[in-house]
Amino acid sequence: MAARSPLTIGVGVLGYAGVARAHLNALKKLPYIFWPSPVDFRLVGIAGRLAESVGAAARRYGFAYAATDWRRLVDDRNIGLLINCAPNDGHAAPCLAAAGAGKHLLCEKPLGRDAGEAKRIWQGSQEAGVLHQVGFNYRFIPAVRLAREMVQAGDLGNVLQFRARYTDDSLVDPSTPHTWRQSKRAAGSGVVGDLASHALDLARFLVGEPAGVVGMSRIVHPRRPVSPGARQTRRVDVEDLFVGALEFANGAMGTLEASGCAPGRKNFLTFEVNGTRGTLLFNLERLNELEVYRPAPRSRRDRGFVTVLVTERDHPYGGTWWPPGHILGWEHPFVHQLHHLARAIAGEVPVPPLAADFQDGYRNAVLCDALLEAARTGRRVRVQHVTRNT
Ligand SMILES: NC(=O)c1ccc[n+]([C@@H]2O[C@H](COP(=O)([O-])OP(=O)(O)OC[C@H]3O[C@@H](n4cnc5c(N)ncnc54)[C@H](O)[C@@H]3O)[C@@H](O)[C@H]2O)c1
Repeated sequence: MAARSPLTIGVGVLGYAGVARAHLNALKKLPYIFWPSPVDFRLVGIAGRLAESVGAAARRYGFAYAATDWRRLVDDRNIGLLINCAPNDGHAAPCLAAAGAGKHLLCEKPLGRDAGEAKRIWQGSQEAGVLHQVGFNYRFIPAVRLAREMVQAGDLGNVLQFRARYTDDSLVDPSTPHTWRQSKRAAGSGVVGDLASHALDLARFLVGEPAGVVGMSRIVHPRRPVSPGARQTRRVDVEDLFVGALEFANGAMGTLEASGCAPGRKNFLTFEVNGTRGTLLFNLERLNELEVYRPAPRSRRDRGFVTVLVTERDHPYGGTWWPPGHILGWEHPFVHQLHHLARAIAGEVPVPPLAADFQDGYRNAVLCDALLEAARTGRRVRVQHVTRNT
C-alpha cells in the first residue's frame, strides 16, 4: 500500500460561481486521480459576497465554513493556500494580504487589471516567500503540452509564425446585461485581459517573448442593460473586439484576435504555429487533438495534416485518467494545474516554466497593456518589463 503524504495544507477559496467551480472540482478530484497526492488539501473556508449562496457552496463542496469577507480566509492560520477566483479587481488585495500571512497562492488570470497592479502582486508575493501560480490552465492541456515539447525538440524547425484567436459570442446580443467584465474599473480591459491574455500566455509558452506589438480595438455595444430586461443601461468602457500583431524577440511573427461578438463561437481558442519544417494546429473546442503537418515525399499521396488524438500513454498526462482514446474535457487541466502546484509545494518541481507564476502574470499584463496602448495610439509599441524586484 502506498504511503500517505505527510503534507497537509488547508485551502481557502475566494469565489464559488464561474471559474471557481472548476477549481472546486479539481480540489475534489485531485486526491483520487493523483493518488497519493503530494499534498493533502483540506477544504477549510470559502468566501463570497452572498451569505446564502456561499453557505450553500460550503455545504455542497464540504468546506468547514463559509465567509462573506475574504479577510476571514487570510486571518485563518489553518489555511496555507488561497485560490483566488474573484473578478479582476479582487485579485490584488486578497493575494497580497494572504502572501503577507504566509499563504501560497493560485490566482486567476489576468493577475492584475494592468501591468502596475500585476507587478505589485508579483513582487509582494515574491518578497513574502510564498509560492505563486496564475490560472493559465490551458498550459495543462495534454495537446498543448505536446505542442510545446515538439516545438522545443525542434520538430518544426525554426518557428516563423504564430497565429491565435480566442473568440466567443457572449457579447454579440446588445440585450446581454452589463457585468464587471464591461467595466474598466473592475476588469482593467475587455476581451484583451479576458480572452487574449490566454492566447498571449500560450504565445509565450510556445514561441517566446514578444518584443513589439500593434493593435486595433472596438466597442461594439457602448451601453448594456444593468440587469436582464432592464431599460436602464450602463456604459461599456472596454473593448469587445481586438485584432493585433506580435513581433517576437526571436524573429517570429504573430497575429492575435479576441472577440466576444463572433456568432456561433463558444470557447474558440485556436492557435497555429508554423516552422520551417512543419505546422501545428490546436482548437480548444477539440482539445484532445493536435493537428500536425510535416513535409513528406511527393510520392506519398497521403501527405498532409494528421490529427493526433493526444491520449496515448506516452503523451503528456497519458495514463493518468483513462485508457487511450478515452477523452478529456475542459475541467481536467484544472486538476493537472492543481497537481502541479501541489508538487511545487511539496518541493518536487518549480512552479515555472510548466506553470505560469506571478512573474508570468506580470509579463502577460505588460503585453496586454502594450496591445491596448497600440490600439489607442495607432502606433507600434515596444514591450518592456522589469526582470527583477525593483
Ligand atoms: N482560467 C480560466 O479559464 C477562466 C475562466 C473564467 C474566468 N476566469 C477568471 O476568473 C475570475 C472570475 O471570473 P468568473 O467568470 O468566475 O466571474 P463570476 O462573476 O462568474 O464569479 C466571481 C466570483 O467572485 C465572487 N466575488 C466577487 N466579488 C467578491 C468579493 N468582494 N468578495 C468575495 N467574493 C467575491 C462572486 O461571489 C463569484 O463567486 C476572473 O479574474 C476571470 O478573468 C478564468
